[in-house]
Amino acid sequence: MDLAEFSPQKVCFFDSGIGGLNLLYESALRLPEAELYYFADNFNVPYGNLPDEELEKAVDEIFSEIAKINPTVAVIACNTVTARCAERLRSKYDFPIVGIQPAVKEAVRAGGKCVVFATPATAKSASLNKLIKEYGNDLTQVVACPKFAQFVEQNIFNLNEEELMKLLPDLKADTVVLGCTHYIFVKETVQKKYGCPVFTGVDGTVRRILKLLGVENKQQIVPFSPKITFVGGDEQKNKRVFYDVLCR
Ligand code: DGL
Repeated sequence: MDLAEFSPQKVCFFDSGIGGLNLLYESALRLPEAELYYFADNFNVPYGNLPDEELEKAVDEIFSEIAKINPTVAVIACNTVTARCAERLRSKYDFPIVGIQPAVKEAVRAGGKCVVFATPATAKSASLNKLIKEYGNDLTQVVACPKFAQFVEQNIFNLNEEELMKLLPDLKADTVVLGCTHYIFVKETVQKKYGCPVFTGVDGTVRRILKLLGVENKQQIVPFSPKITFVGGDEQKNKRVFYDVLCR
C-alpha cells in the first residue's frame, strides 16, 4: 500500500493582503480534507502601486517560502501578481500554479459595455491587454483604481459605504469586472452603484484548483472547519477577516 495516498493535499494561497481570503474561503468550502496555507504581505499593500522590481522581489521571497511547503498546488490569489509574475513563477517551479485573472470573458459574454476595475499594475499589464484582445470588444474599458485596494485593506472591519461610493468613478456599465481580489469585499456596493452584474473571477479559479486536485465534483460542505495556517504579513488580521468577516 502506498502511504503517499494518505498524505493530505497541500494548497498554498498567496495575496498581498486580505483580498485573497475571498478565494481561500470559496476553496476551503470544497476542500475539507486539504491542508491550506495563506501567505500574505499586508505591510506592503498595495502591490498594485509598486514598481515592477520591488513587486518581483517581494513575490520571489514569498514563493521561496511556498516552495518549502512542497504544495500540491499553489494559488496566486492576486490579479496583480498573476498579471506581472505568473509566467516567470511557472517557469521557475515545478508544482502547478493557478492564478486568478479578471473575468473579462464571462462579463463580455453577458453583453453590453464591460468595465474592468483593476490596480494600476494590472491595468497596464500585457497580460490584461492580451485578455481583452482575446475576449473583449470595442466597448470594453479598463479603469485603474490606485486607492481602492488599500482603502479596503485598511478599513475592512469598518467599511463606510458613502466613502466607498466616492472612490468609485461615475460611469455607465452593463457589466463590471472586479480585477482585484480586495474589491470582492465591496461587491455589493459596486453592484448598487452601477446597477449591473459584477464578476469576480473566483468561481472559475476555484474550478481550476479543484480540477488540478482531482476533486472537481466535490459539493460545498457546510458547516466546515478548515485546516488553515496563516503565514506572513499580519497573520492575526488575516485570521480575523477569514473567520469574523467571511465565515460569519
Ligand atoms: N489583491 C490584489 C489583486 O488582486 C492587489 C492588492 C494590492 O494592490 O496590494 O490585484
